[in-house]
Amino acid sequence: MTGTVPSGTVPSGTVPSDTVPSDTVPSEKVAARLLARFGLEGRVAVVTGTSSGLGVTLATALAEAGAAVVLAARRADRIAELAAKLVAEGHRAMAVATDIADDNACRSVVEAALAEFGRLDVLVNNAGIGSIEPAHRQSPAEFRAIIDVNLLGTHWMSLAAADAMTSGGSIINVASVLALTTAGSPQAAYAASKAGVLALTRDLAQEWTGRRGIRVNAIVPGFFVTHLTADHNDAMNALTGRIPAGRLGEPDDLSGAVVYLASDASSYVTGQTIVVDGGFVIT
Ligand SMILES: NC(=O)c1ccc[n+]([C@@H]2O[C@H](COP(=O)([O-])OP(=O)(O)OC[C@H]3O[C@@H](n4cnc5c(N)ncnc54)[C@H](OP(=O)(O)O)[C@@H]3O)[C@@H](O)[C@H]2O)c1
Repeated sequence: MTGTVPSGTVPSGTVPSDTVPSDTVPSEKVAARLLARFGLEGRVAVVTGTSSGLGVTLATALAEAGAAVVLAARRADRIAELAAKLVAEGHRAMAVATDIADDNACRSVVEAALAEFGRLDVLVNNAGIGSIEPAHRQSPAEFRAIIDVNLLGTHWMSLAAADAMTSGGSIINVASVLALTTAGSPQAAYAASKAGVLALTRDLAQEWTGRRGIRVNAIVPGFFVTHLTADHNDAMNALTGRIPAGRLGEPDDLSGAVVYLASDASSYVTGQTIVVDGGFVIT
């Protein structure tokens, strides 16, 4: 993996002969070639929502796979702390304080990424907010605020990033199982925003994959204990019986999916959703 191949490029269909395993190629060499397709050396990734929760793990996974990471969220001190930690571990990282509900702020994140690292290959739209409230009790302002961040913020970040992904790229949207099913708690705004994220994923994939070489996919997490879920962890624990894996998710359960979708390992995958929920949605 040299980092010179755009991460979003859809291969022509011709497989170079030196990538075809054969009896004459030692299995370690084949394994090394396969694993190299997951590498992100030379790539640059913006990850939103990296001041707490799942975004911290997603950004760390991308950095460990070799990408320079640009950390975006509103709590500047927290993202600066994570950037410093990643740099101290030998990775490339920077923090940019951002409110993704503001489309101009989204463009500023991308400009900062280009100024520091010179290119952009990957965007992970992870920032999100939610609330549990019966529909009739939720004010229009509260409903709009959730749509503004989860759906519109994802769109503003994607538009800004797509313009910077001049060699192709990969956009990964973090949705939720509540885009696909219900969990017994009233979350109309949140569920609607995340269902919108899946529709946005499909549409941007069909608009941008061929024309711009930008793949757009979604990850659908199940239930993970984070800052977002702090008020309803008991309710989440009560759902464990509906999860075939028998437990809530650990943030690192998402690392494989994000590195796969960011890397050349998924170069022919676009407009898709990877559900990482221990099996919750099949029950
Ligand atoms: N935890 C779960 O069980 C679960 C399940 C399914 C999906 N998800 C999704 O996973 C994503 C991460 O959630 P989490 O569980 O890790 O929650 P979290 O710990 O609350 O993290 C949310 C992140 O989003 C950022 N954020 C919120 N509003 C923002 C804004 N306007 N501009 C920029 N950043 C903003 C927050 O940072 P600041 O407050 O510093 O801005 C924070 O870094 C969300 O999209 C969530 O919907 C979570």
